[in-house]
Amino acid sequence: MKSEVTVLYPEDVIARRVAALGAAIGEALAGREVCVLGLMKGSLVFLADLIRRIPLDLTVHLVRVTSHREQDRGRVMTEIVYSTSIPLEGRDVLLVEDIVDTGITLSYLLGHLHEHGARSVRVCALVDKPESRKLDVHPDWSAFSVRGPDAERFLVGYGLDWMERHRDLPYIGSIARPGAP
Ligand code: IMP
Ligand code: MG
Repeated sequence: MKSEVTVLYPEDVIARRVAALGAAIGEALAGREVCVLGLMKGSLVFLADLIRRIPLDLTVHLVRVTSHREQDRGRVMTEIVYSTSIPLEGRDVLLVEDIVDTGITLSYLLGHLHEHGARSVRVCALVDKPESRKLDVHPDWSAFSVRGPDAERFLVGYGLDWMERHRDLPYIGSIARPGAP
């Protein structure tokens, strides 16, 4: 265990939540062929576990979004990059996200997917931080909803990184928010 990381959700707890989410998604989207879209890189570990728990026919794709937020003018420049070209027209999309924080990334992606003709878009997040929201968007499912003092800390592990570190931890943990006193 890395000494600076405090365990928040251990492996067995995550596995139970992922199994429950897979079953719930299977029920909600029964009869559909689902186009699963994983947001790189934070969702990769979650995505790998989740797709094996969804009892439906599905295809898996990856997408990467980079955003540069210009604080002073409040402008957000967002770029979207697909790893493979994805035919979205008429598809039932399940977007798999690592963390929904301000909601800016999710809101941008939802707009983009609808613009490109997706028939429906559902969102499954590993972690929802509802208290940090700046835009009114919500995941349909989340494994964990983090509030209060835990939401003040920075989450790492199970795919989540701090400056590309800690993605390999098998549990979700927290570290003091970088830059905080
Ligand atoms: P949003 O656009 O503010 O909702 O940004 C969400 C993105 O910020 C996620 O996809 C994460 O990559 C990153 N993020 C937000 N909070 C954390 C955290 O506690 N740990 C790791 N990444 C985070
Ligand atoms: Mg990240």
